[in-house]
Amino acid sequence: MKGFKSSFTYAAAARRLAEEGRRVINLTIGQPPEEPPGVLLEAVNRAVSRGYNKYSPSRGLGELRRAIAELERERLGVDVDPDNIVVTPGAKPALMLAMLMARRRPGRLLILDPYFYAYVNQARLFGIEFETLPLMVAGGVYEFDVEGIVSRIESGQYSAVLLNTPHNPAGTLLSQGEMHEIVEAARRRKVLVISDEVYIDFTYEGEPASLLKEGYGIYINSFSKSLFITGWRIGYLIADRETAELAASLAANTYTCAPTPLQAAVAEHLVEAYHEAVKRIRELYPRRASLLNDAFSHIPGVEMLRVRAGMFGFPLLDTEIAQAVGGVEEYARRLLEEKGVAVIPGHVFSDAYADRGFRVSLAASPEEIREAARLITEFNEELLAERRR
Ligand SMILES: Cc1ncc(COP(=O)(O)O)c(C=O)c1O
Repeated sequence: MKGFKSSFTYAAAARRLAEEGRRVINLTIGQPPEEPPGVLLEAVNRAVSRGYNKYSPSRGLGELRRAIAELERERLGVDVDPDNIVVTPGAKPALMLAMLMARRRPGRLLILDPYFYAYVNQARLFGIEFETLPLMVAGGVYEFDVEGIVSRIESGQYSAVLLNTPHNPAGTLLSQGEMHEIVEAARRRKVLVISDEVYIDFTYEGEPASLLKEGYGIYINSFSKSLFITGWRIGYLIADRETAELAASLAANTYTCAPTPLQAAVAEHLVEAYHEAVKRIRELYPRRASLLNDAFSHIPGVEMLRVRAGMFGFPLLDTEIAQAVGGVEEYARRLLEEKGVAVIPGHVFSDAYADRGFRVSLAASPEEIREAARLITEFNEELLAERRR
């Protein structure tokens, strides 16, 4: 079913082609190829031999929740009570718990478009009524329509707003001032704010905003990207005590807990591992972002919207090219088939930009990004020449 597609569908297609022996530049998935900090790898073995092999409490190990509170104090300067933290098997289950909480309130959920595909897929799976509001394109970047969000909140028709900053796939971010404006309106109208901030450490322009600084709503984060441990499945949410207790009880009745030995390993050296990983993020990702911004802005038939944060870009194909190939899904299919470059077509992340947008990931190396830009240029020039013949 089209509505339930995820990035994994396209990553698998790229992998299949590579397994056939074709050279493929895979710009699909947001999985950092970097290895986790060494202290974490050693801590896993220790955790298993120290007996962390049973269920943990559904809200997570106390030592991990205390370590997360210490990390957030350092990262965002906010004091968090560990009892307000619920550890989850990654950010997606934290999102699921937040969604189920939103479902208990009357009114619709507001999702911004483009969106991380799991937002709309989860809303559909859980029978949550939602509406989307497009981000705007202005001055060569995507911008949040803060006025539009506030006016939706003020309309009284929404139970919750789901924010994602830094944004996947739009590569943009909210300022704290904008976040504050949204939260103030939400407080007045008793609308729940959920904020997914898994890319908070991937910022290349300006300061990232955080819902945690506003002391309101449900803040979601995870260590998948920030510690290069996508497969460990350790994420968390932070909310008021009542919400955290409800979330823990939903957890107890669904997945029980996040993997205990991995929680113990992260808890043991969290702040140290975080510093090591962030140092690498800052060495690698700003350079990849600026290379992507530069290389893609020279591709004919592509409008590159500058990546300011996060792990992705979401450029727009111009209408002539999109029409020449019969839509962006066909464009992505042929680009992979003919040039060996894998991107994800816009409909996975968007309604508003579905017929022009495509997502590219910064998890590729600088050489791959440069080569992908060259091959896409070649492909677009061939398409344009074909059309003009
Ligand atoms: C915006 C966003 N939120 C959440 C997730 C899921 O994170 P996790 O792997 O911690 O479940 C992703 C993963 O790609 C993401 O892009």
